[in-house]
Amino acid sequence: MKNIFKIKNLKKSFGNNDVLKDINFDVTEGEIISIIGSSGSGKSTLLRCLNLLEYPNSGEIIYNNLSILNNMRNVNLLRSEVGMVFQNFNLFNNKNVLDNCTLSQMKVLKRSREEATEIAINNLKKVGMGEFIHQDVKTLSGGQKQRVAIARSLSMEPRVLLFDEPTSALDPEMVGEVLNVIKDLTKLGMTMIIVTHEMAFAKEISDRIIFMDSGVIAEEGSPEQLFNNPKEQRTKEFLKRFNS
Ligand SMILES: Nc1ncnc2c1ncn2[C@@H]1O[C@H](COP(=O)(O)OP(=O)(O)OP(=O)(O)O)[C@@H](O)[C@H]1O
Ligand SMILES: [Mg+2]
Repeated sequence: MKNIFKIKNLKKSFGNNDVLKDINFDVTEGEIISIIGSSGSGKSTLLRCLNLLEYPNSGEIIYNNLSILNNMRNVNLLRSEVGMVFQNFNLFNNKNVLDNCTLSQMKVLKRSREEATEIAINNLKKVGMGEFIHQDVKTLSGGQKQRVAIARSLSMEPRVLLFDEPTSALDPEMVGEVLNVIKDLTKLGMTMIIVTHEMAFAKEISDRIIFMDSGVIAEEGSPEQLFNNPKEQRTKEFLKRFNS
């Protein structure tokens, strides 16, 4: 199996706050990984380092056998192949659904409006938003907005899709529709890394779970191993809070 990411000795600090201390892990192409852990443990920072929204202080990111840090050409390649879905959607609220899904395609990938529109509509249909293409984003529910954001990411045809707590900003009744869309995507063979507090979901869809604590990977393993038979005391304590 081919490695898509190799992360070695990754460190990131903000001032004197060492947020990522020494992160090492590999990601196999096509793998579905969930990252769990307490608030402030560094999950978002790690995800943002993977697509260089944050630049690590030291360590190595090998993407598709290319060393990324200190090589601008490889940084741009990585950014074009690794997509991200955010907790707060990051959509253009004053634009309609279709424009949100076509603008980056035209600007970054230089696709024609016709081609971008066709790809966007296909992806909007996949997430159940095909009926809403001309609607302004600001009139949509949270769950609908997140499904548009997912369609926008898919329209860039990423090789890896990162999700940072994609359901945390949603009203409870909308969580299920977004989780179902993400679950469907896991069948497409794309590599996905998902930061989530939805433990049952993570257990169901993941090939591997990474548990972060205070800036380190405290434990990783299969969903069965990590949820049913955690080795580390801090994993046990974290999970206890979710099961009680
Ligand atoms: N841009 C930034 N500038 C300064 N400090 C930051 C920045 N981003 C994150 N931090 C700090 O890094 C630490 C880890 O934050 P991070 O957002 O990665 O945690 P998290 O595990 O995603 O938490 P949550 O579950 O609440 O989203 C926190 O102490 C946070 O205050
Ligand atoms: Mg976070």
